Amino acid sequence: MAARPIRIAPSLLAADFTRLGEEVRSVEAAGADWLHLDVMDGHFVPNLTFGPPVVAAIHRVARAPLDVHLMITDPWRYADAFLDAGAAWLTFHVELAGRGDVLGLLQHIRSRGAKAGLSLQPDTPVESLRPFVGALDLVLVMSVFAGFGGQAFLPEVLPKVGALRGFGYTGLVSMDGGIGTKTIGASAAAGTDVFVAGTAVFGAPDRQARIAELRALAAAAAPA
Ligand code: DX5
Ligand code: ZN
Repeated sequence: MAARPIRIAPSLLAADFTRLGEEVRSVEAAGADWLHLDVMDGHFVPNLTFGPPVVAAIHRVARAPLDVHLMITDPWRYADAFLDAGAAWLTFHVELAGRGDVLGLLQHIRSRGAKAGLSLQPDTPVESLRPFVGALDLVLVMSVFAGFGGQAFLPEVLPKVGALRGFGYTGLVSMDGGIGTKTIGASAAAGTDVFVAGTAVFGAPDRQARIAELRALAAAAAPA
């Protein structure tokens, strides 16, 4: 069987927000496959970032698909605004399952022509995803606690990737938080498809060389 494709998704959270358009062009020219956009509401996580107008502005200049990660308490209220803004992949958090209809929102995202994802925090059991695997295009495994860039990778989340495959999940698995040259190999070896990297890409002196290095390290470690 051919190896699964590797996708590198720089997180714009680590970009220079005064020059977002240039930052998008920079990482696209450097080889980014997707652009990861971290939306925070100050409720679900103790930090605030940006909303649909900024996503729409990025969409106007971007060529790569927008991978929108909602760290917000009410994705039911705001999903359409992010889909209208150009999200190709729209992911919200499974910890919200008690607050609304998770399956219904996943189906709604798909009905609008986008790909539907769920994310889980490092201390959320992977079993929480089992009821939804048939409705998911992406699982975003958090390898730090959501809220801030630049945190240290938590290797204890790695077994979640294999556990998902054990449930019969065949969609993409992404990993987010602390991914860099020292950690991407372990993540790839676990079976991750999409590697979100903020600091490791935007903080690199040569972003093209860094993305190439990350891709090579992931490819070397990925299961055959
Ligand atoms: C954290 C965000 C991440 C973050 C990753 O809540 O979901 O996407 O930007 O940043 P690094 O790669 O710096 O850990
Ligand atoms: Zn993220």
